[in-house]
Formats: sequence, C-alpha cells, structure tokens
Amino acid sequence: MQKGRWLRFAALVLAVAAWPVAVASRAAIGDQAGSVVLSVELPDQPTAGARLFVQKNCVKCHSLGQPSPVGPDLGRMLFSGTMLDLAGAFWNHAPVMREKMRDMKIQPPTISSGEMADLAAFLTAYRYYLTEIGKPGNATAGARVFAVKGCVRCHDESSTNWFKVGPGLQRYRGRFSSIFLAQAMWNHGPEMARAMRASGVPWPQFSGQEMNDLLAYLQADSVGTNRERVYFEPGSPRRGRDLFASKQCRTCHSIAGIGGHGGPDLARPQELVRSVSEIAGLMWNHSQAMIAEFQRRGIPRVTFSGPEMADIIAYLYFLNYATVRGTPAHGKEIFDRNCGVCHSIGGGARVGPDLAALPGLDEPFAVLSAMWNHAAGMEQQMRARAQTWPRFAPGDSADLVAYLLAERAKHPTH
Ligand code: HEC
Ligand code: HEC
Ligand code: HEC
Ligand code: HEC
Repeated sequence: MQKGRWLRFAALVLAVAAWPVAVASRAAIGDQAGSVVLSVELPDQPTAGARLFVQKNCVKCHSLGQPSPVGPDLGRMLFSGTMLDLAGAFWNHAPVMREKMRDMKIQPPTISSGEMADLAAFLTAYRYYLTEIGKPGNATAGARVFAVKGCVRCHDESSTNWFKVGPGLQRYRGRFSSIFLAQAMWNHGPEMARAMRASGVPWPQFSGQEMNDLLAYLQADSVGTNRERVYFEPGSPRRGRDLFASKQCRTCHSIAGIGGHGGPDLARPQELVRSVSEIAGLMWNHSQAMIAEFQRRGIPRVTFSGPEMADIIAYLYFLNYATVRGTPAHGKEIFDRNCGVCHSIGGGARVGPDLAALPGLDEPFAVLSAMWNHAAGMEQQMRARAQTWPRFAPGDSADLVAYLLAERAKHPTH
C-alpha cells in the first residue's frame, strides 16, 4: 500500500485513544479462579500504530485488506483473543518472518514496548474499521428488515410522510453510519415505544447484520443526494470510557467484575467482540429493559449527541481486546516447558539472562517486545539444542506474562 494512501486512511479513520484498564484484584474476579487482570495501557496516539506499520517495514510484506505481497493480509484476518494474543501471534511467526526479512534484505526492526502496544492496537483498530464500513449492508435485505420489523407502519422512507405517525427517514440517506442510526433510535426510544404500544407493534429486535442492512436500505439511492459514503470516526474508546461513567452506565454494569450491578458485565470477549452494528443492535434490543431499570432506580433519561454513541460503542468493542486475563499457574507450566532450560526468574543467569534481573520488563507488552528484539539470539540457542520454537495458543501469552510479572514482583532485584 502506498504511504500517502495509508496515512490518509489513518487520518480518516483512527481515533482509538488510550484508555487504561484498571488492574483488578483477584477478589474482584471471583468467577475465574486463579486468574488476574493484566493492566494494558493503550497508546495515546493510535495513528502512531499506522505510521509504525510503514516505518517498521511491515507494509513491505503485509497488506491490509488486499492481496498481500509476502505475508498474510492482516486487514482481513480475524484475530481471536486479546491484544496480547496478537502480539503472541507476532512472536509465533517470528522465525519465518525473520527469514523472509533476510531474503528481502530488510533489517529486522527493533520494537519498543510502546511500539508493540501501538501496533497491536492499530491492527485491532483496523478490524474495527473493517467491520464497520468494510462490510457494507445489503439494501435489499434492509428493505425486508424495514418491513418485517414494522418500521414501515410508522415511517416512510421517501420524502412524503404525511400519513404516518413517525417522521420521514429520508434524512438518513447517504450520510450516516449505523452508529448514528442507533443513536437516533436510542434517543427517540421512549416515544417510539409509546407509539408502538399504541398501535400494537412489538418492540423489534435486531441481530447480526440487520441494523447494517437497514441502514444500507435507508441510505440507498435517492434523487439529488450525494451517494458517496461519508466516512466517520469510529469513536474514541477513552472518551467512551469517560462517557460510560458520566452517562451512568457504570451504575448498573461492571467491567471484568468491577463496577455496578443490575445489568450484565460487559467485558465478555466471546460475545461482545462483534461488528459495530451488532453492538448497536444489542443496545437497542435491551433499551426497553434498561429504560425500565433507569426509571425504577430514578436515574434520569440518557441521550447521546455528536460522537457520543460512537465513543461508547468503541469503548465496548475495544474493551474486550484490552481486558486481558492471565492465569499465572498455567503461565508457570508454559515457562517450565519452553523457557526454563535457558532462563530463571530470580535464580541467576543460565543460557539466557535471569528474567527477574532485567529492568523494564514490568508490563505485558514490554515482555513481548523484548522477546521479539532478542529473537535472533534465542533462535540460535534453540537451534543448538534442537528445541522447537515455542508457539503460543490464544491466552498463552497472557498466562506467561502474568506468571513472569508475579515472579518478578517476588524478586525485586532489578
Ligand atoms: C519480510 C516480510 C515480513 C515483514 C517485513 C513482516 N512480516 Fe509479518 N509475517 C510475514 C510472514 C511470511 C508471515 C507468516 C509466517 C508464517 O507462516 O509463519 C507473517 C506473519 C505475521 C503475523 C501473524 C499472522 C497470523 O497468522 O497470526 C503477524 C501478526 C505479523 N506478521 C505482523 C507483522 C508486523 C506488525 C510487522 C512489522 C513490524 C511484520 N509482520 C513484518 C512476513 C513479514
Ligand atoms: C408505532 C410507530 C413506530 C414504529 C413501528 C417505528 N417507529 Fe421510529 N419513530 C416513531 C415516532 C413517533 C418517532 C418520533 C419520536 C420522537 O418524536 O421522539 C420515531 C422516530 C424515529 C427515528 C428518529 C427520527 C429522527 O427524526 O431523527 C428513527 C431513526 C426511527 N424512528 C427509526 C425507526 C426504525 C428503524 C423502526 C423499525 C425498526 C421504527 N422506527 C419503528 C414511531 C415508530
Ligand atoms: C439502570 C440500570 C442500567 C443502566 C444505567 C444501563 N444499563 Fe445497560 N443494561 C441494563 C440491564 C438490566 C440490561 C439487560 C436488559 C435485558 O435483559 O434486556 C442491560 C443490557 C445492556 C446491553 C446488552 C448486553 C448484553 O449482554 O447483550 C448493553 C450493550 C448495555 N446494556 C449498555 C449500556 C450502556 C452503554 C449504558 C449507558 C448509556 C447502559 N447500558 C446503562 C441495565 C442498565
Ligand atoms: C534455548 C535457550 C532459550 C530459550 C528456550 C528461551 N530463551 Fe529467552 N533468551 C535466550 C537468550 C540467549 C537470550 C539473550 C539473547 C540476546 O540478547 O540476543 C534471551 C533473551 C530473552 C529475553 C530478553 C531479555 C532482555 O535482555 O531484555 C526475554 C524477555 C526472553 N528471552 C524470554 C523468554 C521466554 C518467555 C521464553 C520462553 C517462551 C524464552 N525466552 C525461551 C535464550 C532462550
């Protein structure tokens, strides 16, 4: 991909800001025995990750959303797991990548801890971008949704809306993302609910791509409107986190065990790392139950304006990549099996350095970037011992890091 094009994309799209995820105490996560929440601090400047992707030459082998020159297309890939798993995948493929770099006379880049975090955030963000606008809805399916969900009974999608209860929706043509549709629907929810009760229309539920399809239908051709899709900022998780508090969401929802009660915990990677329009759909689906709960507790009605819904959804989406749980006990097994031959933690140097004695290995990405930076030396030693390159399954890098950090805390020699 060309640099200019890349940077333009980056400027357009990325607004993933830093949001530190609280370190939870074990007690707070009673449901997951023996696991700890690792503190993952995201970068302040998400576009830094885009720039690094170019500067560190990743772009020479990887494309984003197009056939890739050498390595896999990292834009179309579905990374399961957290940001740390992404860094783990990077480690897994290090020997092959380094070999290809040698072939192509590319100097293997040194990557600092902050840079590793930036790259992981960026690649995660890229997928966010893809799921939002890379998968355009289907207008024909959307027309069906509009009819089946009963919208058509109260709304006219054309400019004349004289005989219907609700306002015309033609202003949604060609201009909005499904997030803005969700925002408008949320804001008008109580009035719509009243109108629906009055005319016996059941509260519609959205699943999968339905909201995206509906939007494609509302946006579809109209006379005299600009059909060019308007790109939008996907929202800032950090602002979203602040809104999550100021809009009272925390009153009822916890995140990884921390926060309020009454609503479900929203740190659930398996279920909530979905497309943006699916999360928007979830908020709509549950809005009636939520509004009832707001009233019961005397919490004033909450509405969203400007980019607020986008920010909240960005937070809910990214939260699940940045809430990293690790199980030190499993990390110990991984360490003993793969690393212990050459490293101790607090027992002095062996073939490799004592991992308790090194400064700077105090947060998750620091460990993974140090491993990448020293991969050449490690590979050499492993080869000498006919040891295969350790590969991490999803969750393994978090477990290993959790163990390392816990052991380092016991040996404060560094
Ligand atoms: C010289 C070419 C080359 C460069 C430069 C390169 N990669 Fe790779 N990358 C590859 C190849 C080839 C693979 C697949 C390796 C394999 O099959 O084991 C890969 C795999 C990966 C994977 C794992 C994908 C998966 O399947 O899970 C990630 C993540 C990745 N690269 C990220 C990066 C990042 C970030 C950079 C820049 C710092 C980078 N790569 C630079 C060639 C390269
Ligand atoms: C029973 C009637 C009824 C049904 C069914 C209904 N709506 Fe509405 N809708 C309304 C009314 C009334 C308003 C205006 C509410 C207000 O004034 O706050 C509205 C407002 C809206 C708005 C905000 C419009 C604006 O001007 O910003 C959107 C978007 C919307 N509806 C979408 C939908 C969609 C999509 C469906 C189908 C899933 C739907 N509505 C189903 C009655 C209905
Ligand atoms: C007064 C309590 C309360 C507040 C405040 C509240 N919620 Fe909820 N929320 C709930 C309840 C209860 C449910 C489950 C509703 C149901 O079962 O349909 C829910 C469900 C959800 C869901 C769907 C989760 C799932 O598991 O599918 C999302 C997403 C959500 N809320 C987001 C938010 C956001 C964002 C805010 C802040 C704007 C918020 N909630 C504020 C009580 C609340
Ligand atoms: C075959 C021996 C060997 C194995 C197995 C091995 N390492 Fe290493 N490791 C080394 C050597 C040698 C170095 C120093 C390399 C250098 O500086 O070029 C090193 C360096 C490191 C560093 C960087 C230290 C620094 O200076 O910042 C980290 C972190 C590390 N290893 C972690 C691990 C982990 C985690 C595992 C298990 C998944 C592992 N290593 C497996 C030999 C090994």
